[in-house]
Amino acid sequence: MSVIEKKFLEIFGKEPDLVAAAPGRVNLIGEHIDYSDGFVLPFAIKDRTLVAARKRDDSTIRIASMQRRNKVVTVDINRVKPGLKGEWERYALGVVWSMGVKTGVDLLIDGHVPLGAGLSSSAALECSVATAMNHLFGLGFTLEELARLTQKAENQYVGVPCGIMDQSVSLMATQGSALLLDCRDLNTKNIPFDVAASGLELLIIDTQAHHALTDGGYAERRASCEAVVAKLAIASLRELSMEQLEASRSLLTDTEYLRARHAVTEMKRVLDCVDALTSSDFVRVGQLLNQSHASLRDDYAVSCPELDTAVDAALSAGALGSRMVGGGFGGSAIALIQAVKTTETIKMIEKAFSDRGFKAPRFFTSLPSQGAEIISRR
Ligand code: GLA
Repeated sequence: MSVIEKKFLEIFGKEPDLVAAAPGRVNLIGEHIDYSDGFVLPFAIKDRTLVAARKRDDSTIRIASMQRRNKVVTVDINRVKPGLKGEWERYALGVVWSMGVKTGVDLLIDGHVPLGAGLSSSAALECSVATAMNHLFGLGFTLEELARLTQKAENQYVGVPCGIMDQSVSLMATQGSALLLDCRDLNTKNIPFDVAASGLELLIIDTQAHHALTDGGYAERRASCEAVVAKLAIASLRELSMEQLEASRSLLTDTEYLRARHAVTEMKRVLDCVDALTSSDFVRVGQLLNQSHASLRDDYAVSCPELDTAVDAALSAGALGSRMVGGGFGGSAIALIQAVKTTETIKMIEKAFSDRGFKAPRFFTSLPSQGAEIISRR
């Protein structure tokens, strides 16, 4: 029996029916464009969240987390609706709600995606629960449907207005590849992403910064994009070319123009990055990462001093490219570096942080890993 299965038996008195797992993610490129119907290119990291589950024959849900001292939260499934107060367990209950599960279940969570690092620990939790429920109750949802249901849980139950990227990659990723995701229709293509074969490494730098702006800032960025879409009478920013944007500039506020410029240029960078990866042109990949960061910092205004410091220090240490990832205002940055320079790069970033009096950053590396799966079943 695995650690989580033993713990489940200890807490709930019976063995689980199955254990599911779903990973966190890093986005290589395509930031803040999933909600504008853009293309994005994330990959799943090796850190994942496990959930052990067992069907019950009543309407009770019991849920505990190994990271929350195994404290059991008990709720009747008929009370699980948006508005029900709670803590971390809302991410799991939201999924149970959005999937329309009506039978009780015991759930134990074991989360290994670093929290608050912008690596989508919440999507990992949602997608592990969704995968478990789908198999446990034979619901037969496709991965696209599960992506939409887990996003619905986060938007409507937890109340976070996220896009579709994090859940999609957590569910659909394939080991060894980045996932080219078309956020308009959720079509995907695996893009082999083998940095190690070229002597490179993708360093993940968790700045440990989390600025209070986060939630409001994200919704505000989405609102600016929606305002542009409404003013220009288009379906989404995906429809907009640079020429049209320039021609319509007088209709937009300066802020709206800059936000839209980020979206239009970032969508092109994603496709350029796919071409560069296909021809193993990592110098070009690095340039695109740098351009993405500049656009997020200057046009989209979602970076922060810690992220800029991480990026600048990585580039000073010789990185091919570096940029902030995820929603911004803190969280993580990535740097594409020569594998032999990993220690030196880490030291330079640590020094830059300590010189500025920032909290020490954390570092991770991860190869592109597998998306959600059932890892054991009775
Ligand atoms: C967060 C959201 C995603 C996406 C990114 C920015 O991670 O959850 O949907 O919008 O920010 O690219």
